[in-house]
Amino acid sequence: MEIVSATLANIPEIMKINRSLGDLGEYCDPDILERRLPNYFVAKIKNKAVGAIQLVRGFARSTFNINTLAVAHESQRKGIGRNLVEFAKEHTEKKKGKRLTVESHTIYEAKEFYEKCGFTPMGEVADTYRFEMEL
Ligand SMILES: CC(C)(COP(=O)(O)OP(=O)(O)OC[C@H]1O[C@@H](n2cnc3c(N)ncnc32)[C@H](O)[C@@H]1OP(=O)(O)O)[C@@H](O)C(=O)NCCC(=O)NCCS
Repeated sequence: MEIVSATLANIPEIMKINRSLGDLGEYCDPDILERRLPNYFVAKIKNKAVGAIQLVRGFARSTFNINTLAVAHESQRKGIGRNLVEFAKEHTEKKKGKRLTVESHTIYEAKEFYEKCGFTPMGEVADTYRFEMEL
């Protein structure tokens, strides 16, 4: 598996992968994805994108946030999500960031996943779990 910067050619694949997040136009709209492409990275197996992560630098320049993380339904539970989080950690460190954060709506039931990836839970506000990791 390799994790690389997303290109325009990956947009249809990211739209498919992000369907794992439910029917949310924001994550599956090609125009929005194109605008956000510089923040997107894809996990590829045999040149096919199977996972996608959107990483955004916060107002506090030392913090990066995982805005979107999804693995294609048929490729889940094979370590791809964990690898994307590892990539996010390395990316943050490379950019001199010190902290990685993520918010996850409780509907995704991903609390255990983020804890297994090393995040510290920071509580739940308005049905959203907040996590952080100091690097
Ligand atoms: C959540 C998600 C990104 C995890 O990616 P993944 O590739 O399936 O996860 P991994 O295989 O890397 O799992 C890493 C560990 O977390 C565990 N895990 C993964 N998903 C889990 C879940 N939903 N609940 C509990 N544990 C989970 C795995 O069993 C594994 O544990 P182990 O190391 O003890 O074996 C993926 O399932 C997904 O895209 N889900 C739908 C969209 C979503 O929920 N995104 C996050 C919302 S912000």
